[in-house]
Amino acid sequence: MDHEDLSFDEHDELLNPRPEETEFDRIVDTALSRRGFLGGVMTFGLGTFLVGTTALTREAQAGDRFGFAQVAANTDDTITVPEGFEWEPVVQWGDPLWSGVEGFDDVTRGTAATQARAFGDNNDGMSIFTRNGRTVMAINNEYTNRKIIWGNRPEGKPETGDDIEKGMMAHGVSVFEVARDEKGAWQVVLDSELNRRITPRTEMDLTGPAAGHDLLKTAADPSGTKTLGTWNNCGNGETPWGTYLTCEENFNGYFSAADEAHEVSAELKRYGVSSKDWGYGWAKIDERFDVSKNPNEPNRAGYVVEIDPFDPTSTPKKRTALGRFKHENAAVVIAANGKAVVYLGDDERGEFLYRFVSHGTYAATGDNSDLLESGDLFVAKFHDDMRGEWLALTPETTGMSDAEIRIHTRQAASKVGATTMDRPEWVAVNPTKAEAYVALTNNKNRGKKPNKGGDDTPANGPNPRVGNNYGQIARWMPDNEDHSAPGFAWNLFALAGNPEVHDDAYAGSENINAGNMFNSPDGMAFDETGLLWIQTDGKYSNEGDFAGMGNNQMLCGDTVTGEIRRFMVGPKECEVTGICWSPDRRTMFVGIQHPGEKGNSHFPRGGTSVPRSGVFAIRRTDGGLIG
Ligand code: FEO
Ligand code: CA
Ligand code: CA
Ligand code: CA
Repeated sequence: MDHEDLSFDEHDELLNPRPEETEFDRIVDTALSRRGFLGGVMTFGLGTFLVGTTALTREAQAGDRFGFAQVAANTDDTITVPEGFEWEPVVQWGDPLWSGVEGFDDVTRGTAATQARAFGDNNDGMSIFTRNGRTVMAINNEYTNRKIIWGNRPEGKPETGDDIEKGMMAHGVSVFEVARDEKGAWQVVLDSELNRRITPRTEMDLTGPAAGHDLLKTAADPSGTKTLGTWNNCGNGETPWGTYLTCEENFNGYFSAADEAHEVSAELKRYGVSSKDWGYGWAKIDERFDVSKNPNEPNRAGYVVEIDPFDPTSTPKKRTALGRFKHENAAVVIAANGKAVVYLGDDERGEFLYRFVSHGTYAATGDNSDLLESGDLFVAKFHDDMRGEWLALTPETTGMSDAEIRIHTRQAASKVGATTMDRPEWVAVNPTKAEAYVALTNNKNRGKKPNKGGDDTPANGPNPRVGNNYGQIARWMPDNEDHSAPGFAWNLFALAGNPEVHDDAYAGSENINAGNMFNSPDGMAFDETGLLWIQTDGKYSNEGDFAGMGNNQMLCGDTVTGEIRRFMVGPKECEVTGICWSPDRRTMFVGIQHPGEKGNSHFPRGGTSVPRSGVFAIRRTDGGLIG
């Protein structure tokens, strides 16, 4: 197998193999097949987890709320939108944010110096902010594909320190002003004083309960409160007080040990840190990424970072109160009692779903800058009777200090017996109803292997399928319509699957059909009308279990009727991730990440051009509202 083509998950698996199947796992497998799980249980088992199945239709209904006709799956190297819609690029990897910076060069693919002043690579979560008539976008640049960013080098391997630094500068967050040109198209405002690149070298504060703890201290920062940079920023969030939240996900893949005899601690192994990095080479140019020399450095990553998008001189704040894990996104909602509630997924097989509830309350016209500084952290427990509860992570329940809970959050959640999940990706909160949705993207280990902490992962309520290659979307309704309540009711909105290939639970739920099928839901957001937009990051072979699904895509779900309809298909070998709307809701911005990650795309410029991740604007040709 070619190492270079491995996905994040596959790399992680290779460097941190999960325990082999145990006797316990075999017993679970046998028990499940005896219960006829793969056959008949659907009727009384899975079926009971799905609400209103009779209302879920296999055909489009007249008078629906979508306002578009379904797009067919395809494997084209372009973006496909419904009739009556159009799309255009806004910004792509390597586009300068300042004049005087050389534009993207297909031959060299840039230098560290140009990359540090240009839009980063592999954009993911993004938000848009307006203030005093000006509009700013904040966009995560999650990671790089070696064969693309170093495609000018043999085998896509960095040859010089500048190559490695270029890769590093392609990470972080890009913040820039946008405005419409004379044709109405959204463009980057070059040289705006609001433009900013946040990189793995930007100074940041460590704040909250873990700040200053011994585990966060390094030779360069004996205080444990000042750190440099953010990287592998996946999903995002935004607060009602106008700040951007960027979420550190696979931070582990950047650390390595020059000393091959170095034994990585069990605590770091839980987070996937090992003596080998994933090919980025950062330790070669910056010793802090060498865990044999700086074993505490990885404890300073894996957080949610709060950024003021309108102050390029501000110091981003890592909010340790929200815990440390492989953060996907941060879905913020103000609860009925004024507390800021943040829902948080930990995207790894068999890890958990979390909730933060602030100690302070939100003041619409006051200072909310410290609201994410302190609060209570909870982890979800789903019961098979369709009820659930938020288990508090406290010194009493975990035997760990408040600081340790925020640094070794996974271990704390394991101690209280939280529900192991099928890789929680984005959480989306419905603005029209007290409910929240989580994309559980897939989990081939479900029912087969424990998680990294050794917790068994038998099939359970919201994660009902062993060897889950398709994923599902679960939702919960907090008691008393209060997002800070201790309990909730839950059910499944959709089980992805392939009804053309399977006739059991892997066919998916009733609202999945030959026309709209997909796999691996990931990015998710509600628009203002309460429609749920679903983006996928799955298998695009269009064969076997995935036949008929085509490229990764974006769908729209009506959470009242249960209907799901495909809105957009992305180009070859991409994932669709990141979504936000212009203030007038006449433009939808969508991210296309890693087109051609296996070498088979020239999106978006065609010909023989280098494929580039980017942000694309989608509008109705009649100029109407979109979402
Ligand atoms: Fe960066 Fe879990 O996706
Ligand atoms: Ca994701
Ligand atoms: Ca994903
Ligand atoms: Ca991704």
